[in-house]
Amino acid sequence: MTYSFQMTSDWWRTAAIYQIYPRSFADANGDGMGDLAGITSRLDDLHELGIDAIWLSPFFTSPQRDAGYDVADYCDVDPRFGTLADFDAMLAEAHARGIRVIIDLVPNHSSDEHEWFQAALAAGPGSAERARYLFRDGRGPAGDEPPNNWDSVFGGPAWTRVVEADGTPGQWYLHLFDSSQPDFDWTNDEVREEFRGILRFWLDRGVDGFRVDVAHGMIKADGLPDYTPPADGGSMGGAAVTAGVPLEPEISSEPGDLAPYWGQDGVHEIYRDWRALLDTYPGERILAAEAWVDPLPRVANWVRPDEMHQAFNFAYLETPWDAAALRGVIDASLDAFGSVGAPSTWVLSNHDVVRHATRLSVTEANPQGHGLGPRSNGLPSYEPGLRRARAATTLMLALPGSAYLYQGEELGLPEVIDLPDEAREDPTWFRTNGERYGRDGCRVPIPWEADSPSYGFGPSEASWLPQPAQWRELARDRQRGVDGSTLELYRSLLRRRREHDLGSGAVEWLPGFRDDVLALRNGDVIAVANTGTEPVELPAGDVLVASEALTGRSLPGDATAWLRA
Ligand code: BGC
Repeated sequence: MTYSFQMTSDWWRTAAIYQIYPRSFADANGDGMGDLAGITSRLDDLHELGIDAIWLSPFFTSPQRDAGYDVADYCDVDPRFGTLADFDAMLAEAHARGIRVIIDLVPNHSSDEHEWFQAALAAGPGSAERARYLFRDGRGPAGDEPPNNWDSVFGGPAWTRVVEADGTPGQWYLHLFDSSQPDFDWTNDEVREEFRGILRFWLDRGVDGFRVDVAHGMIKADGLPDYTPPADGGSMGGAAVTAGVPLEPEISSEPGDLAPYWGQDGVHEIYRDWRALLDTYPGERILAAEAWVDPLPRVANWVRPDEMHQAFNFAYLETPWDAAALRGVIDASLDAFGSVGAPSTWVLSNHDVVRHATRLSVTEANPQGHGLGPRSNGLPSYEPGLRRARAATTLMLALPGSAYLYQGEELGLPEVIDLPDEAREDPTWFRTNGERYGRDGCRVPIPWEADSPSYGFGPSEASWLPQPAQWRELARDRQRGVDGSTLELYRSLLRRRREHDLGSGAVEWLPGFRDDVLALRNGDVIAVANTGTEPVELPAGDVLVASEALTGRSLPGDATAWLRA
């Protein structure tokens, strides 16, 4: 297979990277669950969209208790998604179209069905098998209280007690997520060596990099001390976000403020080790950190020159549609990442957050991971949310650095709020007894063809989460070639971003606009974003693309336009 893209260095500094959530992207065999062959069959659509790379959420062998983020075999494909041969075919076809492929690596925890965890249960306290995970004796005279007070990200305690081989209640194991996701002990060299082998396995197959799951969680503070997180914190360690309410920027960066399981210094030597390993491979293979830590200068520690290449910019994702807050986070991002020589990344949606076509007009605080459902407060209506989302994406794609897009946002898909309770699968929903809806609403299989079964998701009507009737009008074939559609907006933004090389540019703020308007120059492009309600007059220059139809040179509220400078 010949690569049709240049093996240029630093491709990742400017790349537009499209996140595929394999369960919900395209289903080739009609079982209602997306698969690798489905992805291969839709690569032409992604090529047409104009992205540089795809990142695939997990497709590895897994009981799917957390939608694949519970891995039982890191070096094989779950039969639900296909085979290793399907993976190789998908990778070759992506490369043939000039699309690089990043896969998900889940090193903080395995599935409880992983052979190591099963061996740990069988081997008993004090064994080498248990030492690969975080088993501890319980507190209290009978050891029947958890070793500390930590809560799981998905709700409920972060510890589960096992029954020992002789039938007696035994030790407890740590799981920052679901009880089916035991945390590894990353101070154990055997764990480190195992993951070097997993990296090599996929690098040898030709992947272009790894998105590293929970890259802020692998090392825990010595002694596993008690900790109670702030009440308004997001479950992954990020902040809560509400439309119109700016972030509190002054979160302290003192190490003592960190949760004992997030952002511990010891994680960095692991990434230095991995970086050295990746650098032995040709073609700029990358590491991208999912590290929910505040503030941005701390996130920059993940992308120092000898560590990862990129870190997700969750501070940007969590910023409301507010000119001052956006300007603040853009400056802070460019400063923080720039100070270590890394590009900033930008992101508005992913498989863990409320889709931005909905989120940007929710009126009540909604911490990350809590999700939305019929009984949530502050529910938005679709049109204003979509309008803001289009404006927000048009601003984001004008920024220098690398941008992440989440499947379906190019169609303007909203969060699906009215999923029936019995359809929900997110462990958060179960572990909080329905108090938090969780993340299913952003994971509904996406629509391709308005008049096909499952809107073209697959050849049958089956869909692991029910698709709303609204998917018909939002299907890709209804939007392709239609002036003003969200799909055509994304295509034109991505094309012009590449033509004008915006990814490698710089931001210069333009003065003279109202407080609720942002205006910036990046190379030969000016972007004007109106976060207010009153129209604003655009400066001189041909309009290249706009998130809303313009009347003359007036940019309406909740809209962004690009002009030739
Ligand atoms: C992933 C989630 C997953 C969690 C546990 C995350 O940050 O993005 O989807 O539930 O890690 O693996």
